[in-house]
Amino acid sequence: MGAEAQQTPQETPTALVIGGGGGIGAATSRALAAAGYAVVATYSSQAERAEKLVAELTAASHQATAERLDATDSAQVEQLVRRLSEEGRLTALVHCPGAWAFTRLTEVTDKEIDEAIRLNLTSALYALRAAGRYLADCGSVVTVSSAAADLAPPRQVTYVAAKAGLEAASRVAAKELGSRGIRVNVVRPGATDTDLLRSTTSERAIEAMSTSNTLKRLGTPEDVADVIAFLCSHQARFVTGSIVDVAGGLR
Ligand SMILES: NC(=O)c1ccc[n+]([C@@H]2O[C@H](COP(=O)([O-])OP(=O)(O)OC[C@H]3O[C@@H](n4cnc5c(N)ncnc54)[C@H](OP(=O)(O)O)[C@@H]3O)[C@@H](O)[C@H]2O)c1
Repeated sequence: MGAEAQQTPQETPTALVIGGGGGIGAATSRALAAAGYAVVATYSSQAERAEKLVAELTAASHQATAERLDATDSAQVEQLVRRLSEEGRLTALVHCPGAWAFTRLTEVTDKEIDEAIRLNLTSALYALRAAGRYLADCGSVVTVSSAAADLAPPRQVTYVAAKAGLEAASRVAAKELGSRGIRVNVVRPGATDTDLLRSTTSERAIEAMSTSNTLKRLGTPEDVADVIAFLCSHQARFVTGSIVDVAGGLR
């Protein structure tokens, strides 16, 4: 599943993983580094976590750097993606940022609505637009949605709305960018064992989630990352506009 079959050191393709320091993002950064990409992993608040990941990857002889990025800031996204496209051959972009809350519809505040849409949807629109402008021809974009976008569970109205929008936007992007050979796909994880899940969800709810799918376990960040790396690879060359469930058969 190499990024490129034959590459010289100068031609090493770059993969930008927005939110690449986080749970699923870090596993994706590792998978793409192993596939031969020079990985740029962004963080927002947790610089130490991202720097530790970069140290791990460089110690294993991979090319990796960490960049601070607020993915909800249009100018920052535009500048970073443009700079990376000027510095090297930017062929993969993965958008990971996201977070949820458990607020009832009747209780949700204007601030919660704005923040959820900004983080889960607006940031994805910025990333898709920048990918369309600056990604190399025949590159690959993967956005990270959630099984919630399909299941629409109660008390997740803002998250579900935003992730459903991210899926729709990714499908439009796939159609617009296909003429340049750029593929755009979405992965839809189910409950995945990350710090975000552990810090927002009770043990009881996590236990219930881990037995509710067909394979009767929580997903791991690597379960999701391997699918993302596949979607970025040449093996997925005819896959675009797809939404891929990575949820252990959850329905
Ligand atoms: N874990 C699950 O059960 C699950 C299930 C379905 C879907 N997902 C989706 O999977 C994705 C990753 O989730 P995760 O569990 O791996 O969570 P995570 O570890 O919290 O990862 C989120 C990443 O996004 C970054 N981020 C947050 N706000 C940002 C901002 N404004 N600008 C740039 N980056 C920002 C975080 O950076 P810092 O840490 O540096 O702030 C972190 O690297 C999310 O989109 C989530 O909705 C997760």
